[in-house]
Amino acid sequence: MVCLGNICRSPLAHGIMEHLAKENGLDWEIESAGTGNWHVGEGPDRRSTRTAREHGIDISKQICRLFRISDFDYYDKIFVMDRSNLSDILSMARNAEDAKKVALLLGDKIVPDPYYDDTQFEPVFRMIEAGCKEIIEPYLH
Ligand code: 4NP
Repeated sequence: MVCLGNICRSPLAHGIMEHLAKENGLDWEIESAGTGNWHVGEGPDRRSTRTAREHGIDISKQICRLFRISDFDYYDKIFVMDRSNLSDILSMARNAEDAKKVALLLGDKIVPDPYYDDTQFEPVFRMIEAGCKEIIEPYLH
């Protein structure tokens, strides 16, 4: 799960997908990362932590890190939140195989950056949750 700062959106996506996978007995390894380095080493934004907690998900122990090229090797899928994340990550792809792993979390819609608007954390949580549910759905039967 990738966004710009790795403190607002991708930590939520990481926590929500991990929660859904566990709840459904799927042994998926979920991680998150950012394309910008401002917050590396920090925990998630408090507003994301609080919103997740209100939905019964603990993201407080996540640590912000940068996306790295080796993530293309390690992970099967790389989900990004918006089109600028998409172009940033695609610009790091070494080949078509790397690029094929990258997709917008919401398919054809974006998850907007809530960083400058406190009221957007709950709607962003719901958007991400809906996207994660859609992704996991085919694996539940
Ligand atoms: P995120 O939000 O990409 O959802 O983690 C942001 C967090 C911090 C910054 C930008 C976006 N920043 O510029 O510090």
